[in-house]
Amino acid sequence: MPPLRLWFNQAYRGTYHLVGQLRRRAAAQGGSLHVVGTHTAPSTPFLQACDVALPEREDLVGEAWVEHALAFCAEHRIDVLVPGRERLAVAQARERFEAAGVRVMVGAPEGLRVLADKATAHAWAVEAGVPVPLTHVVTDAEGFRAAYDDLRARGLRACLKPAVDHGAKGFRVLDEGAGGWADLQRLPDARVHPDVVERLLAGQGRVAPLLVAELLEGDELSVDVLADDGELLCAVPRSKGGPQWTRLLVDDPAAVEIAERVVKGLRLGYLLNVQVRYGGGTCRLLEVNTRAASGLFHSEHAGVDLGWAALRLLLDGEVDVPAPRLGRTVLTYTAAMPVELPAWGTLGA
Ligand SMILES: Nc1ncnc2c1ncn2[C@@H]1O[C@H](COP(=O)(O)OP(=O)(O)O)[C@@H](O)[C@H]1O
Ligand SMILES: [Mg+2]
Repeated sequence: MPPLRLWFNQAYRGTYHLVGQLRRRAAAQGGSLHVVGTHTAPSTPFLQACDVALPEREDLVGEAWVEHALAFCAEHRIDVLVPGRERLAVAQARERFEAAGVRVMVGAPEGLRVLADKATAHAWAVEAGVPVPLTHVVTDAEGFRAAYDDLRARGLRACLKPAVDHGAKGFRVLDEGAGGWADLQRLPDARVHPDVVERLLAGQGRVAPLLVAELLEGDELSVDVLADDGELLCAVPRSKGGPQWTRLLVDDPAAVEIAERVVKGLRLGYLLNVQVRYGGGTCRLLEVNTRAASGLFHSEHAGVDLGWAALRLLLDGEVDVPAPRLGRTVLTYTAAMPVELPAWGTLGA
């Protein structure tokens, strides 16, 4: 049997584990995989799990990237594309990829569009009745002050994040104690004084949409989800709320219900990561990433292989997934290995 040829573009760190897991499952069934990885950073770990590592064409976006991707698929005889960058463009071009014999692991474009922006995602959730933190979307200093004052008047603490962001880069806790003497005696953190934000905003005039939201102060859960065109097939909620270096795989029906409603409402498919957090005693939706979480590999310890199941679903049109075994503690650690970096760019470029 010739190897199944996969292409992961601009995948996240944890894809290193995902590729290994897929290879083991393929081998157990007498098959094999040929994995091509592209990324902007040659030192990104997942490329080490690939048979071929090449630079990601980040100079290309949208339709231009799709044209490039179709040619790349032909050149590398790709059977399955798992898009990281340009997921929406790939979803919109699904039929062109399929006509070229390439299956793309991405759901319907509409859901991707809604979820690519935290402001449109929030508006959708409110409309759909999915519980979310109380949130205002602002674009200037005046709007920010009004939003902040409204949340404080309701007795809530508040936080700030850009509508388009990742990795919590722009996430800040709005705290009137921030910037004081005591801050010089501790590690920097994500707190900022609301007056500072207001002043900085006034200096900018109008900015790209920012969410000023109720700060949820309970447990946060990251839910790994496998879905089939709006139907949730499996969900594994993971919490960082346990002892240091652990992840807890928890049976949390409220978190799974939120995931289920989002999957159904937006007809999501394949692998997703739904992030929720508790506050004021209830579970609320924070965001949905329409791709596998970097930490997906933790879910394997719930007795489900969501990566392999997603691949079977894509190739066979259906898959059986056992119920996850939850209520487990998983220790997460870092490994080191000597490597040959792909021969382009410089380390960490
Ligand atoms: N309303 C909120 N209350 C408490 N923490 C939040 C809130 N919104 C975001 N966060 C924190 O910021 C992190 C990043 O926010 P998120 O919406 O997941 O954006 P991204 O991961 O795309 O940067 C979350 O994992 C969470 O820890
Ligand atoms: Mg997030």
